[in-house]
Amino acid sequence: MERIITSDEMPEDIVDDTIRPQSLNEYVGQSEVKENIRIFIEAAKMREEPLDHVLLYGPPGLGKTTLAHIIANEMGTTLKTSSGPAIEKSGDLAAVLSNLEPGDVLFIDEIHRMPKFIEEILYPAMEDFELDIVVGGEGSSRSIKIDLPPFTLVGATTRAGDISAPLRDRFGIVSKLNYYSEEELKGIIKRTSHVLEMEITDEAAEELAKRSRKTPRIANRLFKRVRDFALVIGDGIIDKDITKEALNRLKVDKYGLDQVDMEYLSALINKFNGGPVGVETIASAIGEEVSTLEDVVEPYLMQEGFIKRTPRGRVATDKAYEHLSVTEDRLF
Ligand SMILES: Nc1ncnc2c1ncn2[C@@H]1O[C@H](COP(=O)(O)OP(=O)(O)OP(=O)(O)O)[C@@H](O)[C@H]1O
Ligand SMILES: [Mg+2]
Repeated sequence: MERIITSDEMPEDIVDDTIRPQSLNEYVGQSEVKENIRIFIEAAKMREEPLDHVLLYGPPGLGKTTLAHIIANEMGTTLKTSSGPAIEKSGDLAAVLSNLEPGDVLFIDEIHRMPKFIEEILYPAMEDFELDIVVGGEGSSRSIKIDLPPFTLVGATTRAGDISAPLRDRFGIVSKLNYYSEEELKGIIKRTSHVLEMEITDEAAEELAKRSRKTPRIANRLFKRVRDFALVIGDGIIDKDITKEALNRLKVDKYGLDQVDMEYLSALINKFNGGPVGVETIASAIGEEVSTLEDVVEPYLMQEGFIKRTPRGRVATDKAYEHLSVTEDRLF
């Protein structure tokens, strides 16, 4: 089934450039990260140097890519984008690096997926703005150094644990993005409503905020779906009733759990007695990828106290039993 959220950016996000904040002032929440970055940017500008390298990590949809764009905007430079999986050969990275202009921000998404031998090319580039490449081959190979312009690397990852220590240590600024509060999500929804010129009542924005998995991308995506319902079966204004109706039809429950979350909890409790059970086993029981469960499903279930991670596997909490029984009573 199609999930409301995936680790990949969907075409919708590209169309969504209009609702993506462009400056730090428009970026809602993450106040600690934001204020630190604001100061580092100001200091770098005063010194007329590029910003130190930045590593952003946290679950999908919390605003890492958005923040990378904002950093480039605030520095008044250009953002160039690549991603871990796109860099397969050392030549790929060399091409990206030698294409940089002084002061550019190079954004590497999913940086944890970059092969180890390529990481090693990145080290001198990050530390000394130097590219060491090997030319020739078969006994006549030699290594040459190419100077790179000063630049800022912004790396993003959903898995900080998968980044090697030497790579991590080369980032001067390491920031973790956290889930958003309902108040912050309400602010994001209000902003989106304003940008898209579609009115939403306070109550409806609160309801939507509650059910958005504490994630801006989901808040925006649900906003657009609810907007469709308001246009077609409502009277053009998003109110609380239409929001509830739309979210029920989309099978998003009061905690923001969707069908995959419920399948996960149901398998854990009904098939595996509430655990402990390995994530691989749950994944094959419900036909989902392990990486989807680890990156998207579990962080939220854990954050909300539905599951716990133990050395012997995942365990359902009382809250999960309670929620599942209430939901199943309603269904059957
Ligand atoms: N702090 C914020 N304020 C307002 N809107 C935000 C904020 N953070 C994210 N958004 C919105 O949420 C959407 C998703 O954010 P973004 O693409 O930056 O997430 P991401 O962390 O890069 O996710 P992924 O790990 O999947 O790449 C953006 O299009 C943007 O509109
Ligand atoms: Mg992203």
